Amino acid sequence: MKSMVIGGIILIVALMAGTYFVAGDSFSLGEDYINDLTMLAGLAIISISVATVLKYVNQMKNDKAQGELVEENWDGIGEYTNPIPSGWGLIFIGSIIYMLWYFFVGYPTNQFSQIGQWNEETLEFQAKFEEKNKNIDATGLRAMGESVFLVQCAPCHGVEADGSNGKAHDLTKRISKEQVAYIINNGANNMKTNYPAGMPAGMASGADVDTLATWIAGGMKGEKPAAFAACTSCHGENGEGMPFVAPNLKAYDDDLVTGILKDGKKANIGAMPSFEGRLSETQVKAVAEYIRSLNGGN
Ligand code: HEC
Ligand code: HEC
Repeated sequence: MKSMVIGGIILIVALMAGTYFVAGDSFSLGEDYINDLTMLAGLAIISISVATVLKYVNQMKNDKAQGELVEENWDGIGEYTNPIPSGWGLIFIGSIIYMLWYFFVGYPTNQFSQIGQWNEETLEFQAKFEEKNKNIDATGLRAMGESVFLVQCAPCHGVEADGSNGKAHDLTKRISKEQVAYIINNGANNMKTNYPAGMPAGMASGADVDTLATWIAGGMKGEKPAAFAACTSCHGENGEGMPFVAPNLKAYDDDLVTGILKDGKKANIGAMPSFEGRLSETQVKAVAEYIRSLNGGN
């Protein structure tokens, strides 16, 4: 019996040492209570298990079979009606409670997450960025807008913002004749966030399309064509646009730029992707300011 107890203690020490060897570097007393409790629970489980095993091995050696047999037997092998050993029952229930505690309160669902930390730091940085640029002036915005443009927009629109030989919209002009004609003939409903209803096709036809396209692409100077009467209910008397109805045709304003950055645009040149979530509010304003500056500030 004595040698078994000594053997049991050696086994407990060996198991604890093994546990410490495998998981010891995440264990430093007092620093992390979940690790501390986990180590304690490990000690408890190992000790109770070894003690229980010792008890029954000892019993198997010394006890004589006694008690009542259950009625059934399996090929002559019977079973006593003894109750479940309480030590075994305690370990069983204790392990389940410990497992639930560890899973929900401990690390598996509650753990430190690098992605979470990265997201938090990004949000913190963005908040700082927005705070720092709260009162940024037009010159600051324009400079910021230019640097955002060179990274995000120049690959399609060109470093000079001239549309890279027709690959994308030439932003040094408000809009080209071909683009106006295409929109009149086909209608458009790209910027659903800022202009939910869109523009129907065929608001002008025949020679009027060419007249309107020439006049609008030319900066809406000189006499207003009569056919523009079909456009004013949405675009305004002078093409200055209306919030939530239709964009300004004379100049790039924030509504048009935020609209296209949010929803993208598909028309005769090609498709412009949405930049939703990729630029902060200040960066969008900055880009809008920069694009305005390309059009001579209007
Ligand atoms: C993948 C290429 C691509 C990228 C990147 C891109 N654009 Fe565009 N963009 C286009 C195309 C193509 C059009 C023209 C769509 C048409 O009218 O057919 C366009 C059109 C525009 C227009 C004109 C909208 C109008 O209706 O008058 C603006 C403004 C604009 N882009 C701004 C930007 C800004 C700002 C960025 C960077 C944040 C950017 N674009 C990045 C391809 C791109
Ligand atoms: C029912 C309202 C409505 C009427 C009428 C209307 N438009 Fe529009 N127009 C819009 C809306 C909305 C858009 C933005 C479409 C989008 O989301 O892509 C737009 C876009 C445009 C654009 C493109 C602007 C850009 O930079 O993307 C041009 C050019 C234009 N309209 C010209 C005209 C002309 C010319 C007429 C008259 C013949 C006209 N529109 C009549 C609502 C209207």
